[in-house]
Amino acid sequence: MSTPIFPITPDRPWLAPLAGFSDLPFRLLCHDLGCHTAVTEMISAKGLIYKSPGTKELLQTCEQDSPLIVQLFGSEEPFLVQSIERLRAEGFRYFDLNCGCPVRKVAKTGSGAALLKEPAHLLHLAKAMIAATEPGCMGFKIRLGWHIGQPVYLPLAKELEELGAGWITMHPRFGAQGFTGHADWSHLKTLKANISLPVIASGDLFQAEDGLRCVDQTGVDSIMFARGALSDPSIFSRYLRLRQAQEPEEKSCLRITAMVRRLSELYAEHGMERLGLLKMRTLVPRFLKGLPGARAFRRDIVFCKSWDEVFHILENEISGFEEN
Ligand SMILES: Cc1cc2nc3c(=O)[nH]c(=O)nc-3n(C[C@H](O)[C@H](O)[C@H](O)COP(=O)(O)O)c2cc1C
Repeated sequence: MSTPIFPITPDRPWLAPLAGFSDLPFRLLCHDLGCHTAVTEMISAKGLIYKSPGTKELLQTCEQDSPLIVQLFGSEEPFLVQSIERLRAEGFRYFDLNCGCPVRKVAKTGSGAALLKEPAHLLHLAKAMIAATEPGCMGFKIRLGWHIGQPVYLPLAKELEELGAGWITMHPRFGAQGFTGHADWSHLKTLKANISLPVIASGDLFQAEDGLRCVDQTGVDSIMFARGALSDPSIFSRYLRLRQAQEPEEKSCLRITAMVRRLSELYAEHGMERLGLLKMRTLVPRFLKGLPGARAFRRDIVFCKSWDEVFHILENEISGFEEN
């Protein structure tokens, strides 16, 4: 077994790969709030080789954005291996293969969770990708299998371990399920009990408390927040406080405003101000969900044309409402 180069423990939570969201500023915000390891949005290996528009932006990083795992998707060995070689030459070190995305656009090309339909092909890709990386630096993000009720993860994970994978992340749903039903954490326990590789849990970790329960119930090495982090990036600090048996901070407009300010600064610092404003329109309403008095303003945020308009709503309208 190869040992991963960065530590993987329950006190070092991960930010999940989140297409459309886990860009550099969002990752840095999560790092500020206690995230240890972050994964890029999924990046098409073919797109990378053919220099598709937008791919370069997905790879934007900086010193504080560490450890960073680049997640690739694809189903053809030459593109995947060449992508790793190219990225290693640019200084990237850790990689992950997306074997979990059920979205039609991805699965119909045989990539993402569709790789689980043909474990032999997946293992062939894995072998080549592991050979192209430093020992312990290649991870795999899998689901239980593609077809509902037909799990393939256990023999697959054992083979990946044998090949020299660095870690396995598992979202315990089947590919054909998409996001329906619930993540069955009992499979995470089974996986952890049967392999020696670090296992990172993903799936239905909506609240900090879910992260704690998942570690307790399954014994996984670490957990990965996805939709939970999109609703509240401070899920990381809340989780870490709970791990230390401390009360987590309450969600408040003041805290959300501070978080949004930091995010706006990070987008500006990295020359992504315009893109940031577009992303803000989907992110801020998510942050505000469940906050008393915020419902009426969530729609207004979507129409804001500048960060100042966003701060005006947060600081004058919602926070004022909260005090009443
Ligand atoms: C908006 C969105 C984008 C996602 N993008 C990716 C991705 O690029 N790569 C990937 O492996 N998983 C992706 N996922 C799946 C998450 O990483 C995670 O495994 C899944 O959401 C289950 O965790 P949760 O139930 O705690 O959200 C995405 C999920 C969401 C909601």
